[in-house]
Amino acid sequence: MNVLVTAGPTREAIDPVRFLTNRSSGKMGYELAHAFQAAGHQVLLISGPTSLDVPDLVDFIPVESAADMFEAVSRHLGRMHLAVFAAAVADYTPVTVAPEKLKKSAASLTLELVKTPDILGSARQPLGFTGTLVGFAAETENLLENARAKLSRKGCDLIIANDVSKPGIGFDSDHNQVTLVYPDHAETLPTASKHDLAHQLVQTILELHLQRQL
Ligand code: PMT
Repeated sequence: MNVLVTAGPTREAIDPVRFLTNRSSGKMGYELAHAFQAAGHQVLLISGPTSLDVPDLVDFIPVESAADMFEAVSRHLGRMHLAVFAAAVADYTPVTVAPEKLKKSAASLTLELVKTPDILGSARQPLGFTGTLVGFAAETENLLENARAKLSRKGCDLIIANDVSKPGIGFDSDHNQVTLVYPDHAETLPTASKHDLAHQLVQTILELHLQRQL
C-alpha cells in the first residue's frame, strides 16, 4: 500500500534569519515511516526540518513551512491508501516576511500572524482523500475531549492523542504515551519507546484500514 506520513516541526519565517517553530524532533513520525516500510509498504515521508536520518527505502520530501507541507501533501495524497499526520504544523505564520534582517532598534516588536492551512483538516475536503486517515493530537489539558473534537472536525478514522505537558514523553523525547481515540471508544497504551510504539501503532492502523474495507 501507499502510505503518507508527515513529521517534524514547520518553520515560519519572520525575516531571513529568524523563524517561529516548536519542539517537535520528528522522532515519532520517522519511527512510523520506518515501521510502515518494514511492514512492506511504500512510504512517502514529508517532513519539516529535523536532525534525523531518513529511514532506508522511504521516499522523502523535505519542507520548511506549513504552506510548503500543505503543497507537498496536496500533490501526493491522491495516490495514497493511508495517511498519518504526525507533524507539529505551526498554526500561525507571520503575515509578511521581512526582506532584510529586522533591526533591534525598537524597544518592542509586534508580529502580526495569520492562520496556516489546516493540512489534516483539508484531507477529506477539499483534497478529496477517501483512504484511512489518522491524525495526532498534542494536548496539555482535556486530552480525550479535545482529541474527540479533532477526530470529528477533521474527518479522521483515528486520532492518536498525546499529553505533551508530561515530562519524558511527547515532544523531543525517545518515549511516548498515547491514547487511541476512535469514533466510539478510546484506549490508552502504556508508555513505550517511540520505536516500539510505532510498530504497535502500524499494526493497529493496518487493522483499522482492513476493517474499513469490509
Ligand atoms: O516529533 P516528536 O519530537 O517525536 O514529537 C511527537 C509529537 C508530539 C510532535 C507527535 O506525537 C504529535 O503529537 N504530533 C501532532 C502535533 C500537533 O501539531 O498536534 P495538534 O493537536 O496541534 O494538531 C492536530 C493534527 O492536525 C495533527 O495531526 C497535526 O499534524 C495536524 N495539523 C495541525 C495544524 C495544521 N495547520 N495542519 C495539520 O495538519
